[in-house]
Amino acid sequence: MERVTISEVSPRDGIQAIPGPMVPTETKIALIRALYDAGVRRMEAGSFVSPRAVPQMADAAEVLAFARSLPGLEPTMLVPNRKGFEAAMAAGAPAIGLFMSVTDSHNKANVNRTTAESFAELAAIVRDTPAHVAIRFNVSCAFHCPFEGVVPEAHTLDWIERVAALDPRIEIGIADTTGNAAPDQVKRVFSHVIRSWTGRVAFHGHDTYGMGVANAAAAFEAGCRVFDGAAGGIGGCPFAPGASGNTATEDLVWMFRRMGVETGLEWQKLLLAADMAAGIPGAVPGGRLRGVPAARRAA
Ligand code: HMG
Ligand code: MG
Repeated sequence: MERVTISEVSPRDGIQAIPGPMVPTETKIALIRALYDAGVRRMEAGSFVSPRAVPQMADAAEVLAFARSLPGLEPTMLVPNRKGFEAAMAAGAPAIGLFMSVTDSHNKANVNRTTAESFAELAAIVRDTPAHVAIRFNVSCAFHCPFEGVVPEAHTLDWIERVAALDPRIEIGIADTTGNAAPDQVKRVFSHVIRSWTGRVAFHGHDTYGMGVANAAAAFEAGCRVFDGAAGGIGGCPFAPGASGNTATEDLVWMFRRMGVETGLEWQKLLLAADMAAGIPGAVPGGRLRGVPAARRAA
């Protein structure tokens, strides 16, 4: 049987986008617990970014401490720069998620750096990451940029090649930040990367235009076997105007279930976690499957 790995990102990509008062640490911990109970074993638990830029992630070290206490769970912490890397190492993160965009305009809006500046800083972090720490390198706006429109495939592939050359142990996350990728574009980019590189690749999709599941199917057909999703479809990058939540984990899991592909997640328990994520005050839920009565009754 085919298998895929789901990397759950609602505690990070989901909660980072919630405006207004801080989501209590206990709520984040309860969500992580519910996701773990549903079988999630990879998860972005939070990010070490400026609390002025993203106030919701200010308690990342505390949230990580809880995530680390769950046997078998690999929590990844998102890291934009050297300071975030040092915080992640000090907090004992077993995995880091570096990120940069392939377009200067989004990278400037997101992390106040040009792409060249971010790449130089992140490349040095890759070199300094101890062997026992896993590295995901997220390439944002790989298909479409909120400021520059559709991104030429050659431009994205050029950046991915540069990332791949850094270290063979990297997992490259190819991200549709705005949810405006098209399935044929996703399939071509993944096919090219998988043909030319033997390392792991992941698809990080958003569902703004309702194409998150179709894009994930296209990435799967091209050979991708790691998928990011957010329970309840919550979230989005606060610095990508118009972008909404990640493709809902429950929508991805339902698709794979119908395709006979094992995810390791328990459906009814996943729905409980998805309802919990969608119910966080201020969160904007997405996804379809939570609202399909027959699917809700399925074992
Ligand atoms: P900057 O202003 O250029 O940073 O921001 P700086 O180095 O000049 O430092 C300014 C202040 O920030 C200083 O504090 C630093 O100490 C502090 P002050 O002296 O003014 O009090 N600082 C930090 N504090 C905590 N953690 C850090 C850190 N670095 C500096 N790591 C910076 C640059 C990157 C910090 C800022 O722009 C930032 O934090 N941006 C947040 C970006 C973010 O979190 N975006 C959302 C996540 S990315 C995403 O959602 C996309 C993804 O899902 C994939 C996809 O969908 O495409 C991953
Ligand atoms: Mg994202």
